[in-house]
Amino acid sequence: MDQNEFDFESRIMSSSYVEEDGENENSLRPHSLDEYIGQEKAKDNLQILINAAKLRGECIDHVLLYGPPGLGKTTLSAIIASEMGVNLRITSGPAIEKRGDLAALLSNLGEGDVLFIDEIHRLPRTIEEILYPAMEDYALDIIIGKGPAARSIHLPLAHFTLIGATTRAGQLSTPLRDRFGVQMRLELYTPEELSLIVKRSAAILDVPIDEDGAMEIASRSRGTPRIANRLLKRVRDYAQVKGNGRITLDIARGALDMLEIDELGLDITDRRVLETIIRFYNGGPVGLEALAATIGEEAVTLEDVCEPYLLQIGFLARTMRGRMVTQLGYEHLGIPYVQNNNMATSGGQVSLMDEE
Ligand code: ADE
Repeated sequence: MDQNEFDFESRIMSSSYVEEDGENENSLRPHSLDEYIGQEKAKDNLQILINAAKLRGECIDHVLLYGPPGLGKTTLSAIIASEMGVNLRITSGPAIEKRGDLAALLSNLGEGDVLFIDEIHRLPRTIEEILYPAMEDYALDIIIGKGPAARSIHLPLAHFTLIGATTRAGQLSTPLRDRFGVQMRLELYTPEELSLIVKRSAAILDVPIDEDGAMEIASRSRGTPRIANRLLKRVRDYAQVKGNGRITLDIARGALDMLEIDELGLDITDRRVLETIIRFYNGGPVGLEALAATIGEEAVTLEDVCEPYLLQIGFLARTMRGRMVTQLGYEHLGIPYVQNNNMATSGGQVSLMDEE
């Protein structure tokens, strides 16, 4: 590889998975659909897609994976590539800055390869247009030159599968979204599924763990395997320093309390979101931007990271006029609930916004 190629690779591509938390997250990732815990619907659909494509000797259709961060979009892409026996190339929307970046990526793909574009909603529209003929006809249409001398050339590409990942499918332009033959929503995991993941990861890390210790970590991981694995590592540290290395229920509780993660997995930021809406906005409704400014967090972080779980457990409601804390949210914080007339819109029903 010459220097130019190396610069391109390091700027645009992730050569392997993202490393996280000082330790390689790779070691904990499942490598096949059989090993993958949870997301049963997505797994069933993917298994059919993979088997059918193999029977026909074709590559699988383009796949859009959407849902909150940390649920396994990159992992599923790696599994798809591995089950199809092809290479996986990983990049992200923000890493692709020029049309030429994407054109180079596409023209370097081998037959059947999988191209994974994380945060695909952040791909600029002018660059995104290159994907349309690439996805539909496996070709690049490139204009060379300017003015009357401009020529359009049609460059054939290898057949490939594009896997796009996004936190919300609604953020994608319609022309791009419509070109994905398969669109799958990943759901938050149940505590039981997360407990299986924690026990599997503990076995890989060679950490002894009790059933109720695993369940404690799982139920405080807000439906997200990435959080479960991160908490497992912190609890492992605590178990070594404060105990004999074994993760028991008491050790898990002690470690997670020290990290200020409560019994439902809410962290300081989640509690600040709820408390701010209650104290500054009388329980809501409050617009996302105003809330983010008051808390000092990015609006996208609140929307993509905090909200999905708070909505799922019913502590937050998204109404036409903004976010509101529900009675359950008040009760969890131990703050007396005062019926807020704003909660009732028509007929006492909360009118929820379209989440996508
Ligand atoms: N590690 C992270 N996510 C996982 C999953 N869904 N199944 C098994 N192990 C995992």
